[in-house]
Amino acid sequence: MTERKAIKYYPTRSRLLHWSMAILIISMLLVGLSMVKSLAVWQPVALSLHKSFGVLLLLLLVIRLVNKYLTPRPRLPKKMPDLQKRVARLSHFTLYAAMLLMPLSGWLMQSADGRSVNVFGWFTLPQLLDANIKAYAIFRELHAWIAWLLILTIALHVLGALYHGLIRQDRVLASMLYSKKPKG
Ligand code: HEM
Ligand code: HEM
Repeated sequence: MTERKAIKYYPTRSRLLHWSMAILIISMLLVGLSMVKSLAVWQPVALSLHKSFGVLLLLLLVIRLVNKYLTPRPRLPKKMPDLQKRVARLSHFTLYAAMLLMPLSGWLMQSADGRSVNVFGWFTLPQLLDANIKAYAIFRELHAWIAWLLILTIALHVLGALYHGLIRQDRVLASMLYSKKPKG
């Protein structure tokens, strides 16, 4: 949100948040898609960890949004066509929206199913609504649809990052990898 002073690389804390959340989110998508198709003995453990890490991601998102508000970030290259800049901004907005809606729809789905969400055995989240089978079905569908929107947007985002890093060879990918210009 803030672009107060021109910087060329994302600060360490922004990169740490980006990469730790990227690894967790990609793992959550893979675990989520596998566990709904599985009857294996690990399924309940996977589901319980899925919920806990999902809530952790919601907390990390709050920290990330505060950090985004307080921290300057690199501008996209001046030479980049306007359309590409707009696509980049729209995809970032979609990624942030999905990072919020995934855990919220999961929490709402569990509340509508009459279940409380326990986070790593540390604390239990309050139920957001009364048990309601119709609402459960809606939030369950939403959770899956938003997951697919997120997967498509991540694919576009990664292709974009590789296009900048390998083809255009500008500073966009480097800005999320390093804190200053790499030597050589
Ligand atoms: C960024 C966070 C999250 C991601 C990326 C994510 C992703 C997924 C995915 C991909 C699935 C499989 C959907 C399907 O094919 O039907 C799934 C299922 C599920 N998720 Fe999440 N999830 C997240 C957070 C949460 C949270 C916070 C909760 C609960 C508190 C939760 C509860 C569930 C449950 C109960 C299922 C199984 C639904 C079913 O039985 O079909 N998720 N999740
Ligand atoms: C291998 C995977 C990934 C790569 C190579 C990558 C690369 C990058 C790069 C180079 C940037 C900075 C350039 C830009 O403004 O577009 C960036 C920003 C961003 N990435 Fe990723 N990313 C990856 C995965 C993810 C995932 C999984 C998410 C979230 C679901 C994500 C969310 C974001 C967001 C929201 C920004 C904008 C940050 C801002 O507010 O300025 N990224 N990523």
